[in-house]
Amino acid sequence: MADDDKRTGLIHHPYRAPGGFESPAVPVAKGSSVFFPNVAALRSRTWVDRSAYTYGLHGTPTTFTLEERLATLEGGRHCLLVSSGLAAITLVDIALLSGGDQVLLPDNAYGPNKTFSRHELMRWGIKHAVYDPLDPASLAAALTPATKLVWLEAAGSVTLEFPDLRGLVRIVREKAPQAVVGLDNTWGAGLAFDAFDLGEGQGVDLTIHALTKYPSGGGDLLLGSVICRDDALARTLSLARSRVGHGVGANDVEAVLRSLPSLPLRYAAQDRSGRSFAHWCSTRPEFARVLHPALPNSPGHAHWASHCRAAAGLVSVEVDPRFTPAQADAFVDALRLFRIGWSWGGPISLAVPYQAASIRERPTAYKGTLVRFCLGLEDVADLIADAEQALSALRLG
Ligand SMILES: Cc1ncc(COP(=O)(O)O)c(C=O)c1O
Repeated sequence: MADDDKRTGLIHHPYRAPGGFESPAVPVAKGSSVFFPNVAALRSRTWVDRSAYTYGLHGTPTTFTLEERLATLEGGRHCLLVSSGLAAITLVDIALLSGGDQVLLPDNAYGPNKTFSRHELMRWGIKHAVYDPLDPASLAAALTPATKLVWLEAAGSVTLEFPDLRGLVRIVREKAPQAVVGLDNTWGAGLAFDAFDLGEGQGVDLTIHALTKYPSGGGDLLLGSVICRDDALARTLSLARSRVGHGVGANDVEAVLRSLPSLPLRYAAQDRSGRSFAHWCSTRPEFARVLHPALPNSPGHAHWASHCRAAAGLVSVEVDPRFTPAQADAFVDALRLFRIGWSWGGPISLAVPYQAASIRERPTAYKGTLVRFCLGLEDVADLIADAEQALSALRLG
């Protein structure tokens, strides 16, 4: 066979493996180009048509399968995958907001959500305002006829306050019925509470998740989702995604599909560790406050108790203000099992120090350095021992 014949033969090989193969794994379907049987089929399909395939960017059997499973987990009807949790947030902003509109964000929202509003949205003539998630009157006062999107987050980033989600949604419905309510539900992971069915007839319109966290569980990939129930909203989001061009890697999608069956078990284990660690932190005089929504004196505990059946594995402490930020940093540096790094939800415990004033726009009650711990899957007794030995650095520093 001539070399040229071999090249063509290797590409256009006639063998087709028999169908009907089934195993626990969802096959990894890859493709930028997707083949059509004829030109008529190519012309008749649209990007958002999920009954068939058009181009890798707009869906494959692997991405459709993960989207269906995530929608079911959340109690939604439609799910769109995007390249990260932050991409999920910005896709919602881009899809729903136009010049002259306003978006509202809780002051404890994931930081880059606020940053996107301050930069890109501002440049595009979209206003934003920040409300206090524990003060419903502050949300009510910020709503205007221009408000088209209200973000909620529960529990809040870093400080983990739990808002009255039902009450906040009710205020938006009454005062700004034109606004879409979006929840960053990364902390709840679709397990701690039902975002679309919060009780008393209230529910959010859409959720976003950083699948990067608990759904991945590996700390090894970035992926995000947007989930909703309403068909028209799903179409708006889907069209925007097809125009913005979010691609997701098939191997990353498959990795999340592989992790999903163990999500409830991992979430429950990390929840247990988080509570044990939080209780230990509350016995330590070096910490002025321990922030974990299941602790009775944590901000918003009563709302957590009335909304949730679980908590994630995140705990923050306010280091007593008598210790300097440098001493608090020395404490974090002295940790051995907890690694220093962003994110959470993976097998390895992580810690990051923050200064509250630099991550909040409204006045904050926290004067000491905040340290956010993400509990991994290690033995919690070892993690407590690790934090205990690191406290000596705090005292000596
Ligand atoms: C609450 C929350 N939402 C969204 C994100 C963004 O996720 P990603 O890192 O996948 O962009 C994060 C990441 O830290 C987060 O903590």
